[in-house]
Amino acid sequence: MTVAERPQNNTIGFGPDGRDELLLAAPEAFSIAHDHCSPECLHIHAIWGYLRLYGGLESVARDGDFLIRELRQAIVDGARRILIAGSADCGILSYVRYAAPEPAMLEIDLIDRCATPGALNRWYAKRHGLNLWADATDVMDFDGSRGTYDVILAHNFLMFFNHEGRCAVARKWASLLAPGGRILSVSTLSAGDDRAVTRFDRDCGEAIADKVAREHAAAAPDGIATEAIARLARSYAVGQHNYKIPSDTVLAAPFKAAGLDVTLRATGPFAARRGVVAKHPMQKRKEAN
Ligand SMILES: C[S@@+](CC[C@H](N)C(=O)[O-])C[C@H]1O[C@@H](n2cnc3c(N)ncnc32)[C@H](O)[C@@H]1O
Repeated sequence: MTVAERPQNNTIGFGPDGRDELLLAAPEAFSIAHDHCSPECLHIHAIWGYLRLYGGLESVARDGDFLIRELRQAIVDGARRILIAGSADCGILSYVRYAAPEPAMLEIDLIDRCATPGALNRWYAKRHGLNLWADATDVMDFDGSRGTYDVILAHNFLMFFNHEGRCAVARKWASLLAPGGRILSVSTLSAGDDRAVTRFDRDCGEAIADKVAREHAAAAPDGIATEAIARLARSYAVGQHNYKIPSDTVLAAPFKAAGLDVTLRATGPFAARRGVVAKHPMQKRKEAN
């Protein structure tokens, strides 16, 4: 497939791979997750693909404008080494694949505190001839022994941390950036203080779980029992706790404190979604020349 033939974006669907690839990845992840996940993350990693298929999770697809545009620009600027920091399934890797004119020229590393995303992304990388290394590690324990990165890509990751934690993560990422490198991160802005709260209110959570169960039963795309999907979807929908990021200023502060040059951008149709481009200061000097 040439660059011109590739989808530029898929704003309401399933990400750049479309539905067919997701129909393969979702049962693969379900199976891998039951081998690798702890009880704390099984309800995320086992059903992420189904949530994307049935409309419970739209941000991966709807942030496509930002992800493709910024990744393409970084690659045009010479980026070759990319770190994906946290990935619930292989959707984020699919953006890297679609952004690159020659995906095999990239060296892609992926870390997640659970082993499931690494195993699933290895499956995806093998299918598509990508050069991927993946490891199960906490972001704060990742030591940089694999070298520095031109791009660090983190989608819906900062919500796992309070402000102090986000500052530590931004410092860690800044230490892993190559001169001229950049962090691309997407988060939602929403009112709240620095305490973790449930991501969905009870009605919204129940509605997501019911929708997933109903649609899986109707579609029956694979041999996986609707009851198992529904139980995990309910556990996900009522059990997710996140930290709120209330404003652009609060979102940008950890990156600025880490010495990076920060630009905030809209990512697509959701007004509250915010893309961060945080560049190693070297980039600024390069652009000024
Ligand atoms: C909510 S997911 C979303 C990622 C992205 N939206 C996607 O679709 O892949 C974030 C991932 O970060 C991982 N994670 C959370 N805290 C982490 C940490 N401290 N270190 C490494 N991974 C972490 C979780 O296991 C999860 O797979």
